[in-house]
Amino acid sequence: MAAELPSKILIVGATGNIGKYITNAIVSAEPRIGKQVSIFTSPATASSESKQAVLSPWKAKGVSIISGDINNPDDIRKAYVGIDTVVSCLGKNALASQIELLKLAEESKDVQWFFPSEYGTDIEYDASSKDEKPHQNKRKVRAYIHENLKRVKCTYVVTGPYIEMYLPLMPTAKEAGGYDVKSKAAVVIGDGNGKVGFTSMPDVGKLVVAALQHPEASLGKILKVQSFVTTPNAIVAEFERQTGAKWTIEKVPNQRLREVEKESWDANNPLATVYTLKRIWAEGGTLYEKTDNEVLGLKPEDMEPLSIAVGKAIRGERF
Ligand SMILES: NC(=O)c1ccc[n+]([C@@H]2O[C@H](COP(=O)([O-])OP(=O)(O)OC[C@H]3O[C@@H](n4cnc5c(N)ncnc54)[C@H](OP(=O)(O)O)[C@@H]3O)[C@@H](O)[C@H]2O)c1
Repeated sequence: MAAELPSKILIVGATGNIGKYITNAIVSAEPRIGKQVSIFTSPATASSESKQAVLSPWKAKGVSIISGDINNPDDIRKAYVGIDTVVSCLGKNALASQIELLKLAEESKDVQWFFPSEYGTDIEYDASSKDEKPHQNKRKVRAYIHENLKRVKCTYVVTGPYIEMYLPLMPTAKEAGGYDVKSKAAVVIGDGNGKVGFTSMPDVGKLVVAALQHPEASLGKILKVQSFVTTPNAIVAEFERQTGAKWTIEKVPNQRLREVEKESWDANNPLATVYTLKRIWAEGGTLYEKTDNEVLGLKPEDMEPLSIAVGKAIRGERF
């Protein structure tokens, strides 16, 4: 595919946690992206009362809703007709289904560009990344693409942690760190001065749109992007500034986090993934000399600052 702008876009997983932000950004993009945006969703979601608040504004903007089974090849083949660009936002339980979606994309006449569901931790950050348990499904998808896709080009958008999801303190997983607005208490990993690169959820949508608008810079690339870099202690300072009060800070040694992580994997505790990701982020796995924001045309002032996410957390806004 020459570096052509997308014309007909299909979004899979559009109504999920990050899919909502990506789809909102695509359907509201200025200048408009492509001629047509469609979403492929399950019949359960298409008919769900609670999802209408998300689906109705999209329908009003001309988005086509295609309902079908992600695991039914005929449903996917039909949905791919006329589509040149697929943006997958599938959740972690459906990541492996993307292998079939990619195979069908390669077989189709129309699909030329595919964004696999990434939008998170860099699964190829360094030599140790290949052994991290939460990375395995995304690694399989990348390996399938590398070995099998010839015609279709892929773009991976690697964003690091979402600041909105990083902030809340989980009472059942204190060693993972977090911020409790009610009790004005923070739990930080290590000494709290370790830098972490974050992306806000609205900025994930903005960055995907920028990738779609700049195929010459994004086609076939693994893009490392983020909103800002900060430290757990700087986040406490921002909470203190906005609440006008002093917060207590508890420190969890990195070694303690590693112990809880291992115990959780040994006990098949679903929180194990959270501990692993927090450990990777606390130990520098989100830091780059330079990100790809600039090649996508985004400057630091285009990105959301920490203060916005902290404000939302204080007001108790759900993401
Ligand atoms: N950076 C971070 O901090 C962070 C945090 C969370 C997630 N992520 C990443 O973001 C991506 C999307 O995650 P998410 O949390 O947004 O996903 P999600 O909300 O759990 O799911 C997204 C959509 O996937 C579809 N789906 C989920 N399970 C399915 C299944 N078993 N079979 C078929 N379809 C299924 C559903 O679409 P329909 O109902 O429309 O059919 C759902 O709305 C993932 O790659 C994840 O690793 C990153």
